[in-house]
Amino acid sequence: MSELRKQIDEAIQVIRQYTDLEPTVGIVLGTGLGDLANEIQKVAEIPYQDIPHFPLSTVETHAGKLIFGQLGGKDVVAMQGRFHYYEGYSMKQITFPIRVMKFLGVKTLVISNAAGGMNPLFRKGDIMIMEDHINLLGDNPLIGPNDDELGPRFPDMSEPYSHRLIDLAEEIALDEKIKVQKGVYVAVAGPNLETRAEYRFLRSIGADVVGMSTVPEVIVARHMNLEVFGVSVITDECFPDALQPADVEDIIRTANQAQPRLTLLMKRVIERL
Ligand code: HPA
Repeated sequence: MSELRKQIDEAIQVIRQYTDLEPTVGIVLGTGLGDLANEIQKVAEIPYQDIPHFPLSTVETHAGKLIFGQLGGKDVVAMQGRFHYYEGYSMKQITFPIRVMKFLGVKTLVISNAAGGMNPLFRKGDIMIMEDHINLLGDNPLIGPNDDELGPRFPDMSEPYSHRLIDLAEEIALDEKIKVQKGVYVAVAGPNLETRAEYRFLRSIGADVVGMSTVPEVIVARHMNLEVFGVSVITDECFPDALQPADVEDIIRTANQAQPRLTLLMKRVIERL
């Protein structure tokens, strides 16, 4: 058994002392987007610090616990608080909770993030369904020995975000009258926001939005063949020729304002999985 598998087993053993729930849906919530967790009918809550090999959350806006319960008629597990590369964690640490989710029974990963909008048709406050991504983190959680029991050495990435779930979400958005965009997310390490020249570059290589998360988790989820649904909230407009100084308070405020729409969309998608 690989070292990673041993660590996963140790985490699972502790989690099983809290709950025997077998969630089929895993949820990771982004900056300022934690509200969905409040809609879960909770059966258990486990602080990260109690779970072996879980890194501890350092960003204040992230609470740092695993929440188990029911949402939209499904058994779910949600990470309240996620880990970012810029905090100094390794890719393996960032994605360890996704590994654990798989072994708890999760089949579908639902993931959200705050992102800067570069597509000129996107507006601050818009919700974007993730169609694809570009990894510019300069690192990858799958580097190193591969555990063939977890997934293949060279995982396919032709459909990182499930077409089935994208179609479903678009249908739901139409029914619920939620405006949604669709596009490509590029992940950068951060923590600084981008220069004008960088936004120009990121737009030119095919990205619609830019953020500092999500891609490591999605790579590991796809490595283990989880179905993925991802959503970005556009918290600031990153148009290089009209760039305003970034205001992190405003980014969080915008994420909060989008939450009711995002929460509804994610909940309905989970209901109809
Ligand atoms: N760049 C990177 N990450 C972000 C941004 C941005 O403009 N906005 C929110 N997260």
